[in-house]
Amino acid sequence: MDTNEKMIHPDNIKLSADENAVVIIDQTQLPGRLAFLTLSERQDCFDAIKKLQVRGAPAIGIFAGYAMYILAKQWKDLPYEAFLENVRELGSYLVSSRPTAVNLSWAVQRLIDAAGADPEMPVGDIVLRMGAEAKAIHNEDMEMCLKIAEHGLSLCKEGEGILTHCNAGPLATSRYGTALGPVMLGKERGMNLRVYADETRPLLHGARLTAYELCQAGVDVTLICDNMASVVMKNGWVDKVFVGCDRIAANGDTANKIGTSGVAILAGYYHIPFYVLGPTSTIDFDTPAGKDIVIEQRDPDEIRTMWYEKPMAPPDVKCYNPSFDITDHSLIAGIITEKGIIRPPFEENLLKLK
Ligand code: MRU
Repeated sequence: MDTNEKMIHPDNIKLSADENAVVIIDQTQLPGRLAFLTLSERQDCFDAIKKLQVRGAPAIGIFAGYAMYILAKQWKDLPYEAFLENVRELGSYLVSSRPTAVNLSWAVQRLIDAAGADPEMPVGDIVLRMGAEAKAIHNEDMEMCLKIAEHGLSLCKEGEGILTHCNAGPLATSRYGTALGPVMLGKERGMNLRVYADETRPLLHGARLTAYELCQAGVDVTLICDNMASVVMKNGWVDKVFVGCDRIAANGDTANKIGTSGVAILAGYYHIPFYVLGPTSTIDFDTPAGKDIVIEQRDPDEIRTMWYEKPMAPPDVKCYNPSFDITDHSLIAGIITEKGIIRPPFEENLLKLK
């Protein structure tokens, strides 16, 4: 398959036919190559999350569910206690790959709960139950994305300009995506929205993935460098900001890709409504506020050398490379979930979803 093939609803994560492996689109190869990876080893599954071959909060959760299932299958002949211990240990191992997106630990916990629900059940049947749980997580995500897209689209008018940061499209979820959902669904229904996609330094998820997905879908997309967001806002070209999320604290503070909070501050200055789109599985009621969210720090070479033919910075320069930042809830006009649009006061209104 080459990149010209339409990929509006890709099977970005699926089980192999024999259900002994997880097959993913290697997102690190896009947009140059649409390559698939077939993963059946524990270390490879861990690395796929760590190296961002599979990425985006909901997608990581879906992937982790399938990985737990196919790896647990390998222990189907163990006694129950040993089986459950292995499953729990595997879960902790996968969760340790990336700390910020709550969907990872949420999905892993669902699989652990499925494994431990009935100690009387034969282990072979428990494995089947885990498979059903992993598939349910995936199916629920597809439904959630569609509902989020519907709610988001209800806010949009023909021809409006939407600015987005990072990638919260189909690749980062299942169908439609979250932040890109309204745009994708609108396109299917004949509505044309104009998108400004921040390139999203340092890993260029906006340039490589968002621009790719929107071009594939035939959406009017303009790629901008991160430092151009204020100009397009000032020019009056942006009516709304739609971004995804990796973890929403109980008070509405939201962790998303580094640079998101700056976009929110600019949007506030220009009186442009800033919306966070994500499934309710991304809300973490155990985390009171954004300051309690652990932010992943990544390799300095993502800033220093990656993407450049020759080094563009002194080789030993100190770098600070947080992968996410926190947008204060006061800057958010609404959180668009599959259950509807949550408006401030967030602490009170999010709780109603619990
Ligand atoms: O480091 P990533 O690429 O996994 O970070 C992704 C983001 O920050 C997305 O905006 C977020 O996960 C929402 S994806 C629907």
